[in-house]
Amino acid sequence: MLLYNPISTHLPPTPTALSLKPTTIHHRNVIVSSQYQPIPTTVNISISDESLKSKGFNLHRSITNLNLDHLNSVFVAVGFPRRDTTKIQLALENTDSLMWIEYEKTKRPVAFARATGDGVFNAIIWDVVVDPNFQGIGLGKAVMERLVTELLGKGINNIALYSEPRVLGFYRPLGFVADPDGIRGMVYSRKKKKNR
Ligand SMILES: CC(C)(COP(=O)(O)OP(=O)(O)OC[C@H]1O[C@@H](n2cnc3c(N)ncnc32)[C@H](O)[C@@H]1OP(=O)(O)O)[C@@H](O)C(=O)NCCC(=O)NCCS
Repeated sequence: MLLYNPISTHLPPTPTALSLKPTTIHHRNVIVSSQYQPIPTTVNISISDESLKSKGFNLHRSITNLNLDHLNSVFVAVGFPRRDTTKIQLALENTDSLMWIEYEKTKRPVAFARATGDGVFNAIIWDVVVDPNFQGIGLGKAVMERLVTELLGKGINNIALYSEPRVLGFYRPLGFVADPDGIRGMVYSRKKKKNR
């Protein structure tokens, strides 16, 4: 499990070599109030909504117009199990914040991320996916930066996610750290029944 570390976002933005490299870099400052003292936190938005739009990508922050069968296909394309769309619908209705990017040309979702939580202190990010045909051009970073910004804007500064080992390098520059101060994530795991 990775935790969002507001301190690391004070690092200057890394220059990117993405094909979606912004012509103008848009910065957004977010002040986070913690339970104890305000933590000034800066989240860099590496590509503006306008720049995304000019490249044919529309950003959405709600499930309106999101075709869940198409979303399911993106999940499957990256190796997630296909899930019942009725259950996906329910899960998204119980989601606090979500971001998705539509490819204008096809009207299909190509990038997605969502967060659940208590709306005040804690959030967990789930289902971070980019259609394999659109990976490596900054869309994953675009949705994650906005999702974190939205959560911080709500005053939620305990943000966690589960990361597969191969994507740790994607999350770290976004401000996530593994096992901060030795804190380890634990997941309930049902014991397999022994054959008798
Ligand atoms: C992981 C994933 C969401 C990244 O999305 P993406 O759009 O391809 O990534 P971006 O183009 O926005 O990359 C942003 C930065 O992260 C880097 N990056 C992307 N994937 C990376 C990886 N697996 N490991 C290390 N760095 C990575 C990019 O090089 C880029 O670096 P830069 O900003 O210095 O140029 C996408 O590859 C994906 O959907 N993978 C399959 C599903 C998955 O594993 N989801 C995460 C579940 S834990």
